Amino acid sequence: MAEAILDLRREPKDRAYATLHAHTASLLHDVDDVVAEMATIASLVHNAMGFLWTGFYRVVAPDLLRVGPYQGSVGCLDIPFGKGVCGTAAAERRTIIVPDVNRFPGHISCDPRSRSEIVVPVVDARGALIAVFDIDASTVARFDEQDQHGLERLLTWFTRPRT
Ligand code: SME
Repeated sequence: MAEAILDLRREPKDRAYATLHAHTASLLHDVDDVVAEMATIASLVHNAMGFLWTGFYRVVAPDLLRVGPYQGSVGCLDIPFGKGVCGTAAAERRTIIVPDVNRFPGHISCDPRSRSEIVVPVVDARGALIAVFDIDASTVARFDEQDQHGLERLLTWFTRPRT
């Protein structure tokens, strides 16, 4: 199936996230493979929104995140819970918006072009934390509550029951 490349960079955020939500459901409705789902969502969001880095860090051991499907330059491999923006979001199980990465103590820099960041926890149907979704942008203050709500809603994809 040839998918047209979505370009949502000039859309109002609420419309952009609604479109991403609809495309995710249509692309993945008969898939039951978490890695394939993460890879597809990372590609869809990254290319449609023009972000710098977009991807998942998966929970691979108690209190340890490891890089999963992503788009962008090479990401750091392992991040312990409590470290950096990703590890803090995982430990506290809450979305973190960082308007200026240079002002976040302990921020882990994987790409020097990153200026702002959002990290959203990903949970499964049982409420277990399975990953965080991390997005970096090359401009300061790129992310706000609309991004948070849009991404949190998109990532409810992983809460659907599995067979
Ligand atoms: N900046 C993140 C590390 C991951 S990269 O941005 C891809 C952090 O501080 O956790």
